[in-house]
Amino acid sequence: MSITTENERIGMQLACDAAAVTLKKMRDYAQPGISTKELDDYGGELLAAQGASSAPALTYDFPGYTCISINGEVAHGVPSADKILKEGDLVNIDVSAELNGYWADNGGSFVLGEDIHGHGKLVEKSKEILKKAISNIKGGVRISEIGRLIETEAKKAGYTVIKNLTGHGVGRSLHEEPHEIANYYDRYNTERFKKNSVVAIETFISTRSTIAETQADGWTLSGNKGGFVAQHEHTLMVTGGEPVIFTAENGIWD
Ligand code: CO
Ligand code: CO
Repeated sequence: MSITTENERIGMQLACDAAAVTLKKMRDYAQPGISTKELDDYGGELLAAQGASSAPALTYDFPGYTCISINGEVAHGVPSADKILKEGDLVNIDVSAELNGYWADNGGSFVLGEDIHGHGKLVEKSKEILKKAISNIKGGVRISEIGRLIETEAKKAGYTVIKNLTGHGVGRSLHEEPHEIANYYDRYNTERFKKNSVVAIETFISTRSTIAETQADGWTLSGNKGGFVAQHEHTLMVTGGEPVIFTAENGIWD
Protein backbone atom coordinates (compact mmCIF):
# COMPACT_ATOMS: atom_id res chain seq x y z
CA MET A 1 0.00 0.00 0.00
CA SER A 2 0.96 3.60 -0.25
CA ILE A 3 0.51 5.68 2.90
CA THR A 4 -1.36 8.85 2.11
CA THR A 5 -2.93 9.83 5.45
CA GLU A 6 -1.91 9.97 9.10
CA ASN A 7 -4.68 7.48 9.90
CA GLU A 8 -3.17 4.96 7.49
CA ARG A 9 0.23 5.46 9.03
CA ILE A 10 -1.15 4.88 12.53
CA GLY A 11 -3.15 1.85 11.36
CA MET A 12 -0.03 0.31 9.85
CA GLN A 13 2.04 1.07 12.94
CA LEU A 14 -0.51 -0.59 15.25
CA ALA A 15 -0.71 -3.75 13.10
CA CYS A 16 3.08 -3.88 12.94
CA ASP A 17 3.41 -3.40 16.70
CA ALA A 18 1.10 -6.39 17.26
CA ALA A 19 3.10 -8.62 14.90
CA ALA A 20 6.45 -7.38 16.24
CA VAL A 21 5.63 -7.80 19.93
CA THR A 22 4.24 -11.28 19.21
CA LEU A 23 7.46 -12.28 17.44
CA LYS A 24 9.63 -10.91 20.26
CA LYS A 25 7.62 -12.65 23.01
CA MET A 26 7.54 -15.95 21.10
CA ARG A 27 11.32 -15.84 20.76
CA ASP A 28 11.64 -15.34 24.51
CA TYR A 29 9.13 -18.14 25.19
CA ALA A 30 10.94 -20.69 22.99
CA GLN A 31 12.92 -23.21 25.01
CA PRO A 32 14.19 -26.78 24.68
CA GLY A 33 11.48 -29.34 25.41
CA ILE A 34 8.44 -27.45 24.15
CA SER A 35 6.78 -28.29 20.85
CA THR A 36 6.42 -25.86 17.97
CA LYS A 37 2.64 -26.25 18.46
CA GLU A 38 2.91 -24.97 22.06
CA LEU A 39 5.01 -22.05 20.84
CA ASP A 40 2.49 -21.31 18.08
CA ASP A 41 -0.50 -21.51 20.44
CA TYR A 42 1.24 -18.95 22.65
CA GLY A 43 1.69 -16.74 19.57
CA GLY A 44 -1.98 -17.13 18.71
CA GLU A 45 -2.95 -16.01 22.25
CA LEU A 46 -0.69 -12.97 21.98
CA LEU A 47 -2.21 -11.94 18.66
CA ALA A 48 -5.76 -12.38 19.97
CA ALA A 49 -4.98 -10.38 23.13
CA GLN A 50 -3.95 -7.48 20.89
CA GLY A 51 -7.06 -7.79 18.73
CA ALA A 52 -5.03 -9.09 15.79
CA SER A 53 -5.54 -12.15 13.57
CA SER A 54 -3.07 -14.56 12.01
CA ALA A 55 -2.45 -13.45 8.43
CA PRO A 56 -1.47 -16.86 6.98
CA ALA A 57 -4.54 -18.48 8.57
CA LEU A 58 -6.80 -15.78 7.09
CA THR A 59 -5.11 -15.63 3.69
CA TYR A 60 -4.04 -19.22 3.00
CA ASP A 61 -5.90 -21.32 5.57
CA PHE A 62 -2.47 -22.11 7.00
CA PRO A 63 -2.74 -24.75 9.77
CA GLY A 64 -1.27 -22.58 12.51
CA TYR A 65 -1.10 -18.97 13.70
CA THR A 66 2.55 -18.45 12.80
CA CYS A 67 5.16 -20.20 10.68
CA ILE A 68 7.82 -21.98 12.74
CA SER A 69 10.60 -23.56 10.72
CA ILE A 70 13.36 -25.53 12.43
CA ASN A 71 16.81 -26.62 11.23
CA GLY A 72 16.54 -27.93 7.63
CA GLU A 73 13.16 -26.28 7.10
CA VAL A 74 13.51 -23.08 5.08
CA ALA A 75 10.11 -21.45 5.66
CA HIS A 76 6.37 -22.00 6.18
CA GLY A 77 7.01 -24.68 8.80
CA VAL A 78 3.73 -26.04 10.17
CA PRO A 79 3.55 -25.96 13.98
CA SER A 80 3.30 -29.51 15.31
CA ALA A 81 2.98 -31.27 18.66
CA ASP A 82 5.57 -33.75 17.33
CA LYS A 83 8.27 -31.16 16.70
CA ILE A 84 10.07 -30.66 19.99
CA LEU A 85 12.61 -27.85 20.22
CA LYS A 86 16.15 -28.82 21.22
CA GLU A 87 19.19 -26.94 22.47
CA GLY A 88 21.17 -25.49 19.56
CA ASP A 89 18.29 -25.70 17.05
CA LEU A 90 18.14 -23.11 14.29
CA VAL A 91 14.63 -21.71 14.74
CA ASN A 92 12.77 -19.33 12.46
CA ILE A 93 9.54 -17.69 13.53
CA ASP A 94 7.58 -15.65 11.01
CA VAL A 95 4.63 -13.68 12.33
CA SER A 96 2.26 -11.91 9.99
CA ALA A 97 -0.92 -10.36 11.28
CA GLU A 98 -4.00 -8.37 10.38
CA LEU A 99 -5.37 -5.65 12.62
CA ASN A 100 -8.28 -3.37 11.63
CA GLY A 101 -7.68 -4.00 7.93
CA TYR A 102 -3.92 -3.38 8.07
CA TRP A 103 -1.46 -6.20 7.47
CA ALA A 104 2.03 -6.60 8.94
CA ASP A 105 4.80 -9.14 8.32
CA ASN A 106 8.00 -9.85 10.24
CA GLY A 107 10.26 -12.73 11.07
CA GLY A 108 13.60 -13.80 12.42
CA SER A 109 15.93 -16.76 12.87
CA PHE A 110 17.82 -17.50 16.08
CA VAL A 111 19.79 -20.24 17.75
CA LEU A 112 17.95 -21.82 20.68
CA GLY A 113 20.12 -21.70 23.79
CA GLU A 114 23.76 -22.66 23.35
CA ASP A 115 25.06 -22.64 19.76
CA ILE A 116 26.29 -26.25 19.80
CA HIS A 117 25.86 -26.70 16.03
CA GLY A 118 27.52 -23.46 14.97
CA HIS A 119 24.53 -21.73 13.32
CA GLY A 120 25.43 -18.39 14.90
CA LYS A 121 27.44 -16.97 12.01
CA LEU A 122 24.64 -17.60 9.51
CA VAL A 123 22.13 -15.88 11.80
CA GLU A 124 24.39 -12.88 12.39
CA LYS A 125 25.12 -12.49 8.66
CA SER A 126 21.42 -12.57 7.79
CA LYS A 127 20.70 -9.82 10.35
CA GLU A 128 23.61 -7.73 9.09
CA ILE A 129 22.58 -8.12 5.46
CA LEU A 130 18.98 -7.12 6.21
CA LYS A 131 20.24 -4.02 7.99
CA LYS A 132 22.46 -3.07 5.07
CA ALA A 133 19.72 -3.75 2.51
CA ILE A 134 17.14 -1.66 4.39
CA SER A 135 19.55 1.25 4.87
CA ASN A 136 19.94 1.40 1.09
CA ILE A 137 16.22 1.54 0.30
CA LYS A 138 14.63 4.86 -0.60
CA GLY A 139 12.24 6.17 -3.21
CA GLY A 140 13.63 5.72 -6.73
CA VAL A 141 16.08 2.91 -5.94
CA ARG A 142 15.73 -0.09 -8.23
CA ILE A 143 14.39 -3.19 -6.48
CA SER A 144 16.93 -5.28 -8.40
CA GLU A 145 19.81 -3.29 -6.85
CA ILE A 146 18.72 -4.32 -3.36
CA GLY A 147 18.66 -7.91 -4.61
CA ARG A 148 22.17 -7.45 -5.93
CA LEU A 149 23.33 -6.10 -2.57
CA ILE A 150 21.84 -9.04 -0.65
CA GLU A 151 23.35 -11.61 -3.01
CA THR A 152 26.77 -9.92 -3.06
CA GLU A 153 26.94 -9.71 0.74
CA ALA A 154 25.83 -13.33 1.10
CA LYS A 155 28.49 -14.50 -1.38
CA LYS A 156 31.20 -12.54 0.41
CA ALA A 157 30.36 -14.49 3.56
CA GLY A 158 30.41 -17.83 1.69
CA TYR A 159 26.65 -18.21 1.52
CA THR A 160 24.00 -18.55 -1.19
CA VAL A 161 20.56 -16.96 -1.38
CA ILE A 162 17.19 -18.60 -1.95
CA LYS A 163 15.95 -17.26 -5.28
CA ASN A 164 12.28 -18.21 -5.20
CA LEU A 165 11.39 -16.63 -1.87
CA THR A 166 11.14 -12.85 -1.81
CA GLY A 167 10.15 -9.75 0.05
CA HIS A 168 6.94 -8.05 -1.11
CA GLY A 169 4.56 -5.17 -0.78
CA VAL A 170 2.23 -5.37 2.24
CA GLY A 171 -0.36 -3.22 4.00
CA ARG A 172 -3.92 -3.79 2.80
CA SER A 173 -3.28 -7.50 2.30
CA LEU A 174 -0.39 -9.85 3.15
CA HIS A 175 1.16 -9.85 -0.30
CA GLU A 176 0.70 -6.98 -2.73
CA GLU A 177 2.67 -4.89 -5.23
CA PRO A 178 5.61 -5.03 -5.70
CA HIS A 179 5.29 -8.83 -5.58
CA GLU A 180 8.94 -9.77 -5.84
CA ILE A 181 11.74 -8.14 -3.89
CA ALA A 182 14.28 -10.83 -4.65
CA ASN A 183 17.48 -11.72 -2.80
CA TYR A 184 19.46 -11.63 -6.07
CA TYR A 185 19.96 -9.30 -9.02
CA ASP A 186 17.00 -9.89 -11.34
CA ARG A 187 17.85 -7.92 -14.46
CA TYR A 188 14.31 -8.29 -15.78
CA ASN A 189 12.90 -6.42 -12.80
CA THR A 190 13.01 -2.72 -13.67
CA GLU A 191 10.66 -1.63 -10.85
CA ARG A 192 11.76 0.99 -8.35
CA PHE A 193 10.88 1.52 -4.70
CA LYS A 194 8.21 4.20 -4.36
CA LYS A 195 8.16 6.83 -1.64
CA ASN A 196 5.42 6.22 0.98
CA SER A 197 4.94 2.61 -0.10
CA VAL A 198 4.94 -0.16 2.50
CA VAL A 199 7.11 -3.21 1.86
CA ALA A 200 8.27 -6.28 3.75
CA ILE A 201 11.98 -6.81 3.20
CA GLU A 202 13.29 -10.28 4.01
CA THR A 203 16.55 -12.16 3.67
CA PHE A 204 16.84 -15.84 2.78
CA ILE A 205 20.53 -16.62 3.33
CA SER A 206 21.57 -20.24 2.91
CA THR A 207 24.63 -22.39 3.57
CA ARG A 208 24.05 -24.37 0.32
CA SER A 209 20.64 -24.14 -1.30
CA THR A 210 19.29 -21.75 -3.94
CA ILE A 211 15.71 -22.95 -4.37
CA ALA A 212 13.06 -23.73 -1.75
CA GLU A 213 10.95 -26.79 -2.49
CA THR A 214 7.59 -27.75 -1.00
CA GLN A 215 7.54 -30.84 1.19
CA ALA A 216 4.94 -33.61 1.36
CA ASP A 217 2.79 -31.74 3.90
CA GLY A 218 2.05 -29.16 1.17
CA TRP A 219 3.40 -26.27 3.27
CA THR A 220 6.89 -26.72 4.69
CA LEU A 221 9.71 -25.62 2.39
CA SER A 222 13.20 -27.09 2.37
CA GLY A 223 16.32 -26.30 0.37
CA ASN A 224 17.06 -28.04 -2.94
CA LYS A 225 20.63 -28.77 -1.78
CA GLY A 226 19.99 -29.08 1.94
CA GLY A 227 21.92 -27.05 4.47
CA PHE A 228 20.41 -24.28 6.57
CA VAL A 229 18.68 -20.98 5.92
CA ALA A 230 18.36 -17.85 8.04
CA GLN A 231 15.61 -15.28 7.44
CA HIS A 232 15.06 -11.84 8.97
CA GLU A 233 12.18 -9.59 7.97
CA HIS A 234 10.88 -6.12 8.71
CA THR A 235 7.86 -4.22 7.42
CA LEU A 236 8.76 -0.62 6.58
CA MET A 237 7.70 2.52 4.79
CA VAL A 238 9.92 3.82 1.99
CA THR A 239 10.79 7.53 2.27
CA GLY A 240 13.16 9.91 0.52
CA GLY A 241 15.80 9.01 3.15
CA GLU A 242 16.03 6.31 5.83
CA PRO A 243 12.99 3.98 5.80
CA VAL A 244 10.56 4.01 8.74
CA ILE A 245 10.75 0.53 10.23
CA PHE A 246 7.25 -0.26 11.49
CA THR A 247 8.23 -3.62 13.06
CA ALA A 248 11.22 -2.25 14.99
CA GLU A 249 9.65 -3.52 18.26
CA ASN A 250 10.51 -7.11 17.31
CA GLY A 251 14.11 -6.54 18.38
CA ILE A 252 15.54 -8.90 15.74
CA TRP A 253 18.67 -6.76 15.51
CA ASP A 254 19.28 -6.61 19.28
CO1 CO B 1 6.98 -13.07 6.86
CO1 CO C 1 7.00 -11.65 4.03
